[in-house]
Amino acid sequence: MLTMWSSAVSLASTKQTTLIFCKSQNVFAVLTCSSSACSARIKMPLSLRYRVKKESNKPRLAGFCFVTLVWIFIFFSHLPATAASSSSPDAPGESSPSVPLDEPRIHGDGVVNVIIIGATGDLSRRYLWQGFFNLVNEEKDQKFHFYAGSRIGTDEGEREMKRILEQNVSCSRVPASVAMTAEECERARAVYRDSVTYHMLKKTDDYEKLCNNIHRKMQSVRLEEVGRMFYFAVPAFAYAGIAENINKVCRPTGKAWLRAVLEKPFGHDTASAKKLSSALKEHLAENEIYRIDHYLGKTGVQSILPFRSLNQKTFGEIWNSENVERVEIVMKESLDSKGRIYFYDKYGVMRDVMQNHLTEIMALVAMEIPTNLSSIHDYQREKLALLSQVDHMTTDQAVIGQYESYADEWREETENGEDETSTVPTFAGVLFFISSPRWKGVPFLMLSGKKLDKKETYLRIVFKSSHFCTITPDYTEGDHACRPKQIIFFIGSRGLPTVAVSRSLPKPQVPNSWRVLELDPGADILGLPAKDFNAYSAGAESDAYSVLIKECYYGNRDKFIGSSELVASWDIWTPLLAVLEDIPPRRYPGGRDSGRWLDMEIKGRKLRFSHDVDGTWNVEDSNRYGMPSTSGISKTFRSGALHTGSKEETVSLLAKHLLIAARSAIATRGAFHVAFPGGSTPESLFLHLFLRMRHRFPWRETHVWFTDERCVPLTSEHSNFNQIYSKLLQYIPIPYTSLHPMPVQLTNGLCSTEDGGPDLYASEIKRLVPDQRFDFVVLGVGEDGHVASLFPYNDAMFGKTNNVLLSEGAVQSSIPRRMTLGFSAINNSRNIGVLIIGDRKHKIVDRLKQTHFTDASELPVLAVIPNNGTLSWFIDHDALL
Ligand code: BG6
Repeated sequence: MLTMWSSAVSLASTKQTTLIFCKSQNVFAVLTCSSSACSARIKMPLSLRYRVKKESNKPRLAGFCFVTLVWIFIFFSHLPATAASSSSPDAPGESSPSVPLDEPRIHGDGVVNVIIIGATGDLSRRYLWQGFFNLVNEEKDQKFHFYAGSRIGTDEGEREMKRILEQNVSCSRVPASVAMTAEECERARAVYRDSVTYHMLKKTDDYEKLCNNIHRKMQSVRLEEVGRMFYFAVPAFAYAGIAENINKVCRPTGKAWLRAVLEKPFGHDTASAKKLSSALKEHLAENEIYRIDHYLGKTGVQSILPFRSLNQKTFGEIWNSENVERVEIVMKESLDSKGRIYFYDKYGVMRDVMQNHLTEIMALVAMEIPTNLSSIHDYQREKLALLSQVDHMTTDQAVIGQYESYADEWREETENGEDETSTVPTFAGVLFFISSPRWKGVPFLMLSGKKLDKKETYLRIVFKSSHFCTITPDYTEGDHACRPKQIIFFIGSRGLPTVAVSRSLPKPQVPNSWRVLELDPGADILGLPAKDFNAYSAGAESDAYSVLIKECYYGNRDKFIGSSELVASWDIWTPLLAVLEDIPPRRYPGGRDSGRWLDMEIKGRKLRFSHDVDGTWNVEDSNRYGMPSTSGISKTFRSGALHTGSKEETVSLLAKHLLIAARSAIATRGAFHVAFPGGSTPESLFLHLFLRMRHRFPWRETHVWFTDERCVPLTSEHSNFNQIYSKLLQYIPIPYTSLHPMPVQLTNGLCSTEDGGPDLYASEIKRLVPDQRFDFVVLGVGEDGHVASLFPYNDAMFGKTNNVLLSEGAVQSSIPRRMTLGFSAINNSRNIGVLIIGDRKHKIVDRLKQTHFTDASELPVLAVIPNNGTLSWFIDHDALL
């Protein structure tokens, strides 16, 4: 007779789960309810199960108990499901096999069957067999049975598996947290080896056989199956077929869970990712699919959300565009792609690591912290919201490169001919913006590349600073407020902290299990002294696969990629990948030889390499010192100083330079000799001199000369003299003897050679200008690159001795003939200011930026090289940017 200890129905409630159990003898009927689903099952010890066969009362008793539970179960399952369960982005569709979203985590008693498909492949050898060995040792109370599957025939497969388990599973790679002596570990290793059964898996029949064997083994050990984990360590094209076979013939029965772990790549763009997902969903429910991204198993990555959550009070308020200057997500690799070009060439760096590993990191740093950190639904909802807020990217937001030896490796491994080449990028920098109230306008710079100077992965949040220290801080006393403010997460880097927080920021809170890291005071962290940081270690970096295998065993789906998140991530990348198809990557030597070759600059919403392809600085966009200044503009232009701003600012700067030069010349030589150009450009300068400097400028000591003049009467509206006279000279107190118009109209008509106008002007210069050196020559630049009236392809102009000459070069003009200063007079000047204004001049400025252009015959302005004076460029934003 059976004695009933208790038939009471108890209710114990934890945060996540409600357990209702009905206990009689050692038979438990258990109802488990998570936030979104309930399940019931009967548990009994193995010894009892054996006796149950003989003692017919027991099942009846358990049955009674179970019926009670079923009523309670029905009651609970009619409670409103959590909002999350119905709105989960990845709730299984109608056609999916129906499995509760958060299945009960049944562990402990019973067996978990693990089937590795592709068991003899590289991934399995390197990570999986060791990962599962670690799991076995960490979860000693759980029984596991292992099945190895591959397309190799049974005999050979068994031999191969023996070798792999012998050679690739080691006690030295078991986490230190597992308490085991060396002997115990060796014993465990032997048991592990024996627990693996090999199966050839090609056809549905093979899967059927495998599953019959699993079933038989379960029967023979008389244990309940609690879950079945399939690890797909095979290429993605095989996924759908395998999933179909599993669904058809190899699903576990009863309440045992099924989990299919899949390796990337999950498609190569949105369409293919969707296609693969729907193919899988025909056979597996969403919550049975565990897409692995091994970066989510890295300590640094796993620390991001908990750190943010713990420090929500301190850093939550500054985690936004008001305070964050930029976010960097950097994954540098020193290795090349040798040996896996066949795979790599189809993907390239953006599909290989950016769409997955680095986008995951971006989501973790930028998403809103889920209300309930342990709810997969909250987590997925916030992650999806973030991914959908990433702005569409254009080619201006990416730079790509390929290391030089890639081409040879590619030919070798793909057997392509000499004249063929691959343009797959092995390096990329990408600039993201996120249109959320929190992140609006904050640049997120993502960067990754093969064959770089070192292996280093980090996430860095750089904060703005409004601090100014008047008294030099005493850093030895811990006075760090004036130092840069950053939070850095290092990912998978040995010897470096998991998190480093500038001492100029509040001291963070960290989980109790973390330890403060004492860094060598002489060391640096990303170029800053280590002593500037509070540094913490979250523990020794465990192998990411081992970590994720365990997460899968526990059913922690937030450590895996859901279908919706996958598609959202591909939605970010697909348009950019498409537009970059036609852009050839920049070749880089690799390693440290790459020098500054791959440096880049953020300018507004654009990202550019700082260097031009010819190795010169890309002056427009670069600013060698990396100063953001006014929109990141350099202080130099070609070989001269650059002064820029709006049109008004630029003109005002030139006027100031004129004033300074005038005062200095008058102080030393008693007069100021300036030559002005014609055309429309200087009009705004004349206006400025009139409006703002009419009274301040030393006009009485100033001599006004001309860089050039059209061959028209000086009273003509086309005359340069007339223009400046009508705009400025007639209004200022300048003696008329100080005005020096060019003598274009003498006795024999306009610019007649017989009159010798150029010589007359040259003698006047000689007579009046000390050392024949103007104090200041102002030049405009034509759209064709001409200065004064020195036009392209007119080599006679370059004679060194002609201070003044006649020019025929203005071919497009109705008045082609001009008189002009020659380069000798211009270059002899003490100061030369080149004024370029308006977007009409943008093209010519763009050409001038290309410093490899040196042909002055094509662009005469390039012949402006002062002998012993200064050259300054005054270019307004419209022309420059
Ligand atoms: C893989 C990529 O996902 O990650 C490789 O396919 C890359 O190209 C690797 O080298 C980097 O991983 P880890 O763990 O070495 O940083």
